[in-house]
Amino acid sequence: MTSDNITLLAIESSCDETAAAVVRNGRQVLSNVISSQIDLHKLYGGVVPEIASRKHIENINQVIEEALTESGVALADIDGVCVTYGPGLVGALLVGVGAAKAISFAAKKPLIGVHHIEGHISANYICHPDLEPPFLCLVVSGGHSHLVIVKDYGQYEILGRTRDDAAGEAFDKVARSIGLGYPGGPKIDKLAPSGNPEAIYFPRASVENAPYDFSFSGVKSAVLNYINGCKMKNEEYNQADIAASFQDAVTDVLVDHTILAAHDHGISKIAMAGGVACNNGLRRKMVRACEKEGFSLYYPEPIFCTDNAAMIGAAGYYEYISGRRDGLDLNAIPGLKLGEK
Ligand code: KG4
Ligand code: ZN
Repeated sequence: MTSDNITLLAIESSCDETAAAVVRNGRQVLSNVISSQIDLHKLYGGVVPEIASRKHIENINQVIEEALTESGVALADIDGVCVTYGPGLVGALLVGVGAAKAISFAAKKPLIGVHHIEGHISANYICHPDLEPPFLCLVVSGGHSHLVIVKDYGQYEILGRTRDDAAGEAFDKVARSIGLGYPGGPKIDKLAPSGNPEAIYFPRASVENAPYDFSFSGVKSAVLNYINGCKMKNEEYNQADIAASFQDAVTDVLVDHTILAAHDHGISKIAMAGGVACNNGLRRKMVRACEKEGFSLYYPEPIFCTDNAAMIGAAGYYEYISGRRDGLDLNAIPGLKLGEK
């Protein structure tokens, strides 16, 4: 499914990155500008929604302008404006949605609302020009953990989801509890290779009668209990061993559930998406498992795994060519479900 030379401006502001990109035909990234607020939120140990919205307001115009300039495409030659309208922080989403509506109205360009998770999944189209649905995708970010069958462009069947914390959230909370700071995922990933993954056994949880669902609150509590136990005994704990053992437990579950779902549904094409898909331990384990099973594996390069607007431009393209157009009544929907339009 292609449509020649459709160039879209894409905007993303659902959490703590203000981002804009210009993407051609869903797969060719002409510019990808990301203004991260991480250094600001680090001071508070996590994202502060009110600060995130204010920073988006301060940054968004400049980020969009940079994305257009870097792409070498004039606004007049853009075919449409796509924007993340959910899920995410409502105040943060509203900044991107407001900016996209203003540009769409002023420049008389179609407006296309895009689902954030659909964006994460579509990051794979950017990095793998040959990738076409159907495939199975493990979506693991700070706010979401899903196992999804991508049946066709824009068509999803959710097989499993987390019952409590998202995988990235568990990484962030565990990192904070062992004193690594925010955002925890990359810090645990970096420290884990210098620890022993077999030093401490943390639980690999599964949910009764829901083999593809996840639950990460147990492993998070087990880490906290372990640390408290050490403190009560006046024993030092080894940060690297905890990082390695925790990462091993979480990635075991992610890989096992994905491989099980692929077998049960007769799918041999597997993709990963979202911030946690950057994790080196997860990538190594999934590569090994897929090689063993004879499955092909796809994951985006790190810059397209964490929040960015290029992925919104990729997803937006397939929405655009399927005819989706939004009006100026497009609103931010913080709890938007995947597959909902
Ligand atoms: O996809 P993303 O940028 O934002 C959401 O939509 O949530 O994901 C951010 C999450 C954070 O929880 C962060 O700690 C995690 O992805 N993350 C990682 C790594 N890089 C980012 N987790 C594990 N290992 C990493 N290398
Ligand atoms: Zn995200």
